[in-house]
Amino acid sequence: MIKTNLDGVKRFIADRELPLDDGRKIMSDLSGGRVKYAGTGWMRLPYEYDIETSSGVKAAAQKVISDSQALVVVGIGGSYLGARAALDFVNTPQYNALDKNTPDIYFVGNNLSGEHLAQVIAFVENRDFSVNYISKSGSTIEPSVAFRVFKELLASKYGEADAKKRIYITTDASKGKLRQLADREGYTSFCIPDNVGGRYSVLTAVGLFPALCAGIDIEEILSGARDVTEQCKTDALLYACARQTLYRKGKTIELLSCFEPAFRSMGEWWKQLFGESEGKDGSGIFPAYAQFTTDLHSLGQFIQSGERSLFETFVSIDKPRSTICIPEDRSLNDGLDALAGSNVKTLNDAALTATKKAHIDGGVPVLELAVPDFSAHSFGALVQFFEISCAVSALLSGVNPFDQPGVEAYKKNLYEILGLTSGQSQPIV
Ligand code: PA5
Repeated sequence: MIKTNLDGVKRFIADRELPLDDGRKIMSDLSGGRVKYAGTGWMRLPYEYDIETSSGVKAAAQKVISDSQALVVVGIGGSYLGARAALDFVNTPQYNALDKNTPDIYFVGNNLSGEHLAQVIAFVENRDFSVNYISKSGSTIEPSVAFRVFKELLASKYGEADAKKRIYITTDASKGKLRQLADREGYTSFCIPDNVGGRYSVLTAVGLFPALCAGIDIEEILSGARDVTEQCKTDALLYACARQTLYRKGKTIELLSCFEPAFRSMGEWWKQLFGESEGKDGSGIFPAYAQFTTDLHSLGQFIQSGERSLFETFVSIDKPRSTICIPEDRSLNDGLDALAGSNVKTLNDAALTATKKAHIDGGVPVLELAVPDFSAHSFGALVQFFEISCAVSALLSGVNPFDQPGVEAYKKNLYEILGLTSGQSQPIV
């Protein structure tokens, strides 16, 4: 299970400063449905993920696995990052290069780059592929553009009627233009529950359908999330309370980092979760992600001795998938002979210890979260852990964790610049 270690912040904050009582009350209000803001449905997803919908999702995923060499997942923000995180964390970032019985997965609609669209078209146009278009509102411009492109490609390859059988829609149960389109065209479609916002929707078909298509065990994901709800609430509470205490002491930036590259997309999902949930009303911790040891050679200088407004959260993975040992080779004369035969993981762990000590000495508080492994179970646990701690942390700071009014400003301007009808981009929350 996920463990929170506060040793690295003791020099900066005292235990008595942690707002544990307030945090506990918030947690109990969240569990008891006593929070004044709408959007807490994600808390029950690990228990209530509808079995009938789920088997529909499973049957559809089986069809994709049997008739497609690639799946193009169209979506942005909460309709993209969770699925990508699951794929990279559980199946490795090299998933598409692996020899396997499940389709390659490509993500589009998360930017407005024609270059990116062209690259993915080149990968899929001569192979059998399907499309999963995910958008809760159904009116977000980036995925809308990408869907047009890939719908046309499907139609030119398979004909209109057969193309329809390769389109899978994930959207609101009853509202929005995409729901209307799915119903009108008879596309296979999955529902995002009304009381679950975009960035909290990983444990619905938003994250679980692409995960199933990639061969990931979703029962294990849901079981990991349940375990956190039942066993790790104190650790989630400690994390939330420590970050708020550090914020109150002027630490306005949180740098999440992991020493495993397979965590990078999880870090991107975490950025959205915390950034959109907390950054409002002129306050909030700015969430950033760094990949270590890689970024120690780019951001390391700043972290060590730049402006002291940072705190860090290190995520460690106890048991990586593989063991690689350092070969013996005396001809190299590179000073590493004493390490011959050692597991590279030992070096990575040593790098974490060394970095933690250096950064604390440099005035950066370091929180630590320990995760057991790269399993689907741990992925589900991480999702639920971060969602709980994010909601508690945002509520401790007095903001609504479940809306994102600020995202609309750029969308409105973009629609105006493009001469499109204003109001089309309004999301459903
Ligand atoms: O968390 C959120 O609600 C947002 O980040 C959305 O996920 C993102 O804007 C995409 O919206 P939609 O799913 O409506 O296309």
